Amino acid sequence: MSQDFLPLNGTDYVELYVGNAKQSALYYQYAFGYELIAYAGPETGVKDRASYVLKQDKIRLVLTSPLHPEGPIADHIRKHGDGVKVLALWVDDAELSWKETTSRGAESASEPKKISDDHGHVVVSSIKTYGETIHTFVERKDYKGIFLPGYQPRSSTYTAQPIGLKYIDHCVGNVELGEMNRWVEFYENVMGFKLLITFDDEDISTEYSALMSKVVSNGNGYVKFPINEPAAGKKKSQIEEYLDFYKGPGVQHMAIATDDIIQTVTELRKRGVEFLVVPSSYYDDLLDRVGKIDEDLQPLKDLNILVDRDDEGYLLQIFTKPVQDRPTLFFEIIQRKGAKSFGKGNFKALFEAIEREQGLRGNL
Ligand code: FE2
Repeated sequence: MSQDFLPLNGTDYVELYVGNAKQSALYYQYAFGYELIAYAGPETGVKDRASYVLKQDKIRLVLTSPLHPEGPIADHIRKHGDGVKVLALWVDDAELSWKETTSRGAESASEPKKISDDHGHVVVSSIKTYGETIHTFVERKDYKGIFLPGYQPRSSTYTAQPIGLKYIDHCVGNVELGEMNRWVEFYENVMGFKLLITFDDEDISTEYSALMSKVVSNGNGYVKFPINEPAAGKKKSQIEEYLDFYKGPGVQHMAIATDDIIQTVTELRKRGVEFLVVPSSYYDDLLDRVGKIDEDLQPLKDLNILVDRDDEGYLLQIFTKPVQDRPTLFFEIIQRKGAKSFGKGNFKALFEAIEREQGLRGNL
C-alpha cells in the first residue's frame, strides 16, 4: 500500500503575469464576475510589482505586473505574453511537500520559507513544472489574513456581479512533441499523481491537425492536470500554434466549474466574452448522441454549449477564444452532471472550430 506522499487540499490560487495587471483586474471583475479582495504593490511596501487578488467562490486569481523593465516578471511577459506563471496548491505542510517532491527529482523554484505579518504566518515553497510554469505549495493553517502576508485587503468601486463560477475543475498544459509522457511521468513519480485518461490522435484528430492528451489526477481527485502534445497532421496542430506564440510549454486553458452553465454563459456573452463557434449542425443529432438531458436544446444551441456523455453521466462545456492577442491562454466553462470525463465526444467539433480561428490568423 503506498501512501499519498503529497496530500493536496486543492488549488490555492493561479497567478498570471500580465502586461497591465490594473486593467486585467478590471476585465476579470467586469467580464467574469470576480471580486477584487486584495492587493500588493508600492503602497503596501512591495517595490517591484503590483499584484491584484480576485476571488469568486473557491477560485482565486492573482494578476501581477512588473513596475520596471528588468527582472524575471518582465522577462516572462516579454517572452510569453500574458500567461499563467503559478499553479499554487494548498497543502498542510509546504516544507514536507517541497522535500517529498524535490527528493523525487523535482527542480526547486524556491526553498520553503515562512512569511509572517500581523495575521499569522504561511509557509510557501515552489517547484518547477513544464516550461517556465511553477507549482507553489501554500501552507496557510496558521494564517488569518486576506490572502498572503504582504497583501492588504482591497475592494473596487465597481461591484462585481458573480456569474456562478465555483472552482477550478482542471488546468491543461501544452508541451512539445514527444514531451507529454515525460511530464505525465513527472506528475506520477514526483507528485504521486495517477494517470486517469489517455486520448490519442485517433480520438482527437480532424482533417488537418491532431493532438495527444493524457490526464493526471492527484489522490483525492481535487487537482487534475491534462497534458497535451501536438501530433502530426496535414497542417499545423493547434498545440504547435500555442507553442509558437507562447514560446514554449505553458498553461493552455483553465476549466472552471459552474452549476448553471446556461446562466453563466449568458452573462459572459452579455459582457463581451468571445467563445468558439461550432456549426449549428452539431445540434441536429445531439440528443441521439447523448440521450436525455435536463436542459432544453434551444438555449444550448443559442449559446453554443456542447454536451458529452460518459458511463457516469453527462457534462456541458464551452471554450472561450484566447483572452489575449496571442493565441495562447483561454478558459473552459464546464458543468458536470455526473460525468467525470473531459468531453471526448466534442473534440472533433471543437478542434474544427479552433482550426477555423487558426486559419483566420494565418497559422494553419
Ligand atoms: Fe478542458
